[in-house]
Amino acid sequence: MTLEQAKEKLAKYGQEHVLKYYGELSEQEKQDLLVQIDATDMSILDACKHKEDLVKKGVITPLAAMELSEIEAGREKFTEEGLAAIRKGKVGAVLLAGGMGTRLGSEDPKGMYNVGLTRELYIFQCLINNLMDVVRQADTWIHLFIMTSDKNHEATTGFLKEKDYFGYKEEYVHFFKQEMAAATDYDGKIYLEEKGRLSTSPNGNGGWFVSMQNNGVLDIVHDNGIEWLNVFAVDNVLQRIADPCFIGATILKDCAVGSKVVRKSAPDEKVGVMCLEDGKPSIVEYYELTEEMMNAKDGKGDPAYNFGVILNYLFRVADLEALAAKQMPLHIVEKKIPYLDEQGQLIKPETPNGYKFENLVLDMIHEMDSCLPFEVVRSREFAPIKNATGVDSVESARKLLEQNGIVL
Ligand code: UTP
Repeated sequence: MTLEQAKEKLAKYGQEHVLKYYGELSEQEKQDLLVQIDATDMSILDACKHKEDLVKKGVITPLAAMELSEIEAGREKFTEEGLAAIRKGKVGAVLLAGGMGTRLGSEDPKGMYNVGLTRELYIFQCLINNLMDVVRQADTWIHLFIMTSDKNHEATTGFLKEKDYFGYKEEYVHFFKQEMAAATDYDGKIYLEEKGRLSTSPNGNGGWFVSMQNNGVLDIVHDNGIEWLNVFAVDNVLQRIADPCFIGATILKDCAVGSKVVRKSAPDEKVGVMCLEDGKPSIVEYYELTEEMMNAKDGKGDPAYNFGVILNYLFRVADLEALAAKQMPLHIVEKKIPYLDEQGQLIKPETPNGYKFENLVLDMIHEMDSCLPFEVVRSREFAPIKNATGVDSVESARKLLEQNGIVL
């Protein structure tokens, strides 16, 4: 893109200010900035001016979960089915590790965080250890796809290589980068993070399948006959990955997606809960739950919206392919965005100062025709690390790891 073309594009979207320092840049920096301007989707930025309209929900009704008693009754049958699928190579795992982990406050990728006390025990290591349990049980390796972003790719790949993938077989580990989106102030004006660079942030955890496609790793899925992808977050150190029982239950119930869920600890707990929206599977956020929904009961007299999602889903690949061509809803999230101030100094704000533009994995659920919410025992499978201290923190996760017999 030439400077003239860039000016034209920027004028169209009211973003001419990003060329403020253009005259000071080296030839290479100029070229890089023009490439970035060309590649940035600016058509989405205006959406921050009417962000309330973006998240209109349909009619919400309950969606029953497969509860622990039913899982126990079918455990043998489900596990056998799941193990058979894994042994035939039909299951892959996708680790979403492109996020910034700003709440944890570490400069490194979240997976590099050491939760050990008397020894090194990294978040990535916990996850790989959990997956290795299934590798041993099934006696076969499982392809592990790891999503990173521009912000943490080098650090993540370098770290895992240095640690020899914590014993995982290298040829079964595949990295791919997610797309980035511009970050703006509250008026939708793109921040600069350097004189020759627009502020960007990863485009949310909902673009992972499209990013797999764009990066060519979907070919690995096709070439190996993988039919199911178990996608999971980096921060839950206790989660079971490629859990044969969960896989078997989802397959035998003939669902397009399975979702691990935990029973809510209180009606107003801050988790998204599984539901139906206009008759299709969906997730209603805690702040969208009305008083009436919080008090609603199912046929057994239990709360009707009682199962929170933990970002561990099993998607059928064929259904993901049908979804890939569709436009995903946009979410506008307030975040702390480093930026250059009027004097050209880099500021790292302490409080949110603008918007990031994201697609979310929960919107992929709503595109599926059927979903199996699958209950898991919270104290055994849910230890998220979002913050340094307090709720969902390193502290709370350490306690849970110890409760589960893991030496720290
Ligand atoms: P979070 O919602 O906790 O976001 O991500 P985050 O960016 O990691 O953390 P904060 O909010 O800045 O503290 C849930 C999961 O989705 C992944 C994260 O890596 C985590 O596994 N994620 C999130 C991505 O892979 N890409 C993104 O753009 C955002």
